[in-house]
Amino acid sequence: MREINASIPFDKALWRQDIAASQAHVAMLGAQGIVSADDAQTISRGLDTVAAEYEANGVPENWDLEDIHMTTESRLAELIGPAAGRLHTARSRNDQVATDFRLWVRDAMDQVDAGLEALQRALITRAGEHADSIMPGFTHLQTAQPVTLGHHLMAYYEMIRRDRSRFADARVRMNECPLGAAALAGTGFPIDRAATAQALGFAKPTDNSLDSVSDRDFALDYLQAAAQCSLHLSRLAEEFIIWASQPFGFVALPDALSTGSSIMPQKKNPDAAELVRGHSGRIVGCLTALMITMKGLPLAYSKDMQDDKPPVFEAANLLGLSIAAMTGMVADTVFRTGRMRNAAELGYATATDLADWLVRQADIPFREAHHITGAAVKLAESEGKALDALTLDQLRAIDSRIDARVYSALSVEASVAARASHGGTAPEQVRLRVAAARNALGME
Ligand code: ARG
Repeated sequence: MREINASIPFDKALWRQDIAASQAHVAMLGAQGIVSADDAQTISRGLDTVAAEYEANGVPENWDLEDIHMTTESRLAELIGPAAGRLHTARSRNDQVATDFRLWVRDAMDQVDAGLEALQRALITRAGEHADSIMPGFTHLQTAQPVTLGHHLMAYYEMIRRDRSRFADARVRMNECPLGAAALAGTGFPIDRAATAQALGFAKPTDNSLDSVSDRDFALDYLQAAAQCSLHLSRLAEEFIIWASQPFGFVALPDALSTGSSIMPQKKNPDAAELVRGHSGRIVGCLTALMITMKGLPLAYSKDMQDDKPPVFEAANLLGLSIAAMTGMVADTVFRTGRMRNAAELGYATATDLADWLVRQADIPFREAHHITGAAVKLAESEGKALDALTLDQLRAIDSRIDARVYSALSVEASVAARASHGGTAPEQVRLRVAAARNALGME
């Protein structure tokens, strides 16, 4: 029982939140005259001492004391004597742990937000440097149309922007204080829940005591936002892995985020990116674990809910590492823009531009233009040439409406410059998006 019951090995991570919530609680008990002013002061000073001890020496792990709440209360009793027993008046570990955990998750959300903002800054900076750098854009991982590297990086800026808004939404929704719900039904003592809520930075007290001690959807909201964010990071990591491979050669990853091989001297492996890709699977696993823990639990508190913390702690740790790794990778990767541009010229990436030119200059319906372009690509392929290496006679043999102006449409530069629709890949559009993003983050 001792072993299965103990949560102190992991919930000691809540000690700061547990002390803060107890301080708010005892101040309220004193203000309401539920405990004497003397006792309230003695308890508060005692809690300061316990906190200082934890800070200096760590939290002692005695399984007989089960969890952080009992550990702190027992140390308080050693320090101040019987007055310590008054701290738990009008409170239960059920509302206590719900409060502590909310505070912890709220801090975690704030940390993630700061990390994601740093990642966005790195993306914006690199995108600004490469608004004009041309690379192949892919669909099905087949060369599709030329795009700019700045545009590609800004795609991740947008994903991270939405991730931040998911955490921000969840933070607003969860910012209600369960303290005072007591075990499940509320309390007969004349407590002031608005005061404790305010002291702990919550917008208001929760409105239903059963819900307050039973709900962990705030933790699930966090994990869902974390899982979604980790999927984005994983996709970015995967792209760096592909780009760093020798056949692509689009990037040289920072040495600081790579490793060598113990047997192959030439190797430089993208380990950090691979771990980000791997960690996203574990983070999704954490979300799944807590969803399944909560599924079907009757109201109110059940001990199953003690298992809420390890997946959240694990996900927070993995997500923090992943964000830091990707921030470093974006900031310090060398983009080999010559290789990227050359690759953009392979694979007939400007075929759509030929079709668009036929539509615009010769008023040919797009479907027919698509067909004519297909014939041109087939001819170029059979001759092992780029599209713009076909002679005008060859092109006119396919369709006599083609004239010499077509060549200006077939370069990769002309291709990206033409895609100046809102949100398109044209360098001028990318610069607009970068400027707007810099502005949104107050850069410079
Ligand atoms: N260690 C417990 C948890 O993490 C604290 C709440 C215990 N409450 C109870 N009624 N046993 O959930």
